[in-house]
Amino acid sequence: MCGIVGYIGSKQAQPILISCLEKLEYRGYDSCGVAIDSDGIEVYKDAVRVKALGEASPRFKGTTGIGHTRWATHGPPSQINAHPHLDCNGNIAVVHNGIISNSPELKARLIKEGHTFISETDTEVIPHLIERYYKGDLKKATEAALSEIDGSYAIIVLAKDKHELIVARKDSPLIIGIGDRENFIASDVPAILDHTDRVIYLEDGDLGVVTSSGVSISRNGSGIKRAEQKILWSVEEAQKAGYEHFMLKEIHEQPKVIRNTLAEYSRETEPVLDLGKIRDTGRESIIMLASGTSYHAGMVGKYIVRELLKLPARAEIASEFSYYTSVLPRTVAIAITQSGETADTLKAMKKLREADCRVIAITNVVGSTASRIANKTIYTRAGPEISVASTKAFTAQLMALYWMAMTSSITDTRRQSALLTELRQLPGKVQQILDDETGITELAKYMSKYEHAFFIGRGINYPIALEGALKLKEISYIHAEGYAAGELKHGPFALLGEQSPVIAVVARDNTYEAMLTNIKEVKARKSPVIAIVEQGDEDIDKLVDSVITLPKVDTLFSPVLNIVALQLLAYYTAKERGCPIDYPRNLAKSVTVE
Ligand code: G6P
Repeated sequence: MCGIVGYIGSKQAQPILISCLEKLEYRGYDSCGVAIDSDGIEVYKDAVRVKALGEASPRFKGTTGIGHTRWATHGPPSQINAHPHLDCNGNIAVVHNGIISNSPELKARLIKEGHTFISETDTEVIPHLIERYYKGDLKKATEAALSEIDGSYAIIVLAKDKHELIVARKDSPLIIGIGDRENFIASDVPAILDHTDRVIYLEDGDLGVVTSSGVSISRNGSGIKRAEQKILWSVEEAQKAGYEHFMLKEIHEQPKVIRNTLAEYSRETEPVLDLGKIRDTGRESIIMLASGTSYHAGMVGKYIVRELLKLPARAEIASEFSYYTSVLPRTVAIAITQSGETADTLKAMKKLREADCRVIAITNVVGSTASRIANKTIYTRAGPEISVASTKAFTAQLMALYWMAMTSSITDTRRQSALLTELRQLPGKVQQILDDETGITELAKYMSKYEHAFFIGRGINYPIALEGALKLKEISYIHAEGYAAGELKHGPFALLGEQSPVIAVVARDNTYEAMLTNIKEVKARKSPVIAIVEQGDEDIDKLVDSVITLPKVDTLFSPVLNIVALQLLAYYTAKERGCPIDYPRNLAKSVTVE
């Protein structure tokens, strides 16, 4: 999704902006650009990668500037639609993340007043509106412009010779990085980690004036203080550390992530969230609320809560939940979001808060919007996740859900201690899978020749089939569908055959026999079958074409091992097909529009 950056200080702004934009590439984009306060406002932008932009762009001299990576919403990716956008005179430049919902009306009015528009974007109305109100006070003019705007935005405004940047946010993330006689602005922490670890998180409705020596923030016209926070992520964590792709690095970080997340939670003397108390407080149902990969974690969470706590739990896709016409008042919602900025998830969370429901966020980003909406936040300790396809953040979310359920007061204590022992062994078992990737890399060569695939699972591994399919389609562009194994016969059977391999996630639990039957049905329809099984499963070998054998583990934790294997399969398949793994086409890491 769009990324914005700004710099004001004593150094040349352009190379700093380019390097900050490179760090935001992971959010997903299709064009990019910069504007520098030089001899007038100089803009260079195009529908190219940031590196190419940096190489092709003239060197503009100037110590104040803004930059942008655009993920097209209004108008296709093109040089003209790329940001920054200018007013009529080219004296005011704006970068924007979000959507201006009343842009058609504003644009029509501004055109009548004599403004000329050149792009198809909604953003272009902002510099024109600011121009309309500008009488020398950029902050006031921006405030006036924003008062007319409906929708979501994080913006930075740059004006000729002003030596200040105006920033504002509503429903889109924006942070200010505090340096030594220089300041930075960005959509996200990794953009500025090379320069500073001190940040201020802006909140919805905040308007800031940033100069090289200070930051002043106001809301509704009155000045306010926002505390500075120290970022705990290191620069190294946000770099590839010798791996060919961030995704591979992040897959390999999972043993460490599991250990760190568990170590963090074990230090707490109280359960991170006692789901057992829900019954006592009269709250009746638990919903897991999320989007994308996080939704799959929520689906696993549903099984965990039902299995360990015998409580009713559901998983809801956030973008659907937001449009339900009624919300059960006695609901506890666990909103799962790696970034804490996904617009769909935030909207659903707000709806629940308005209905007086309790909302708990599980997020990886300290200070994110989700953490501010929630009544309580549980942080995962995955470190920065850069690859668009989520891997280690998913595993960390599962850890939070396991821990939450296992330490709740109604978990059977004997089962609890056995599970805790197993949980502590998980990092070692994940490591074993990572240390022996050869089988998976061979299978990836085989998978890479197909254009369609089905993933099937049952019970707690049904969400893993969905997530395995999602990983494969996201990065290898193979059409992949996840199915509850029992559902395959209700339609997808029509598509089975030699060109449609089926990846079966097999668990040694009460679903095992049914899964064997499903595999036989699939084989009878000539689809090649790859089964993911645990060590010692000899029966399956005879039924399928290939197996991926994983260490034995309590079925409750099998999603963790299974997903690591499927992440690797997706990664190596995509690599075999020569795909741009970390930045898949059309996708964004953090989707901040609905
Ligand atoms: C995007 C990303 C996915 C992610 C989803 C939800 O679609 O590409 O990897 O799972 O957003 O993101 P969240 O930050 O809310 O977990």
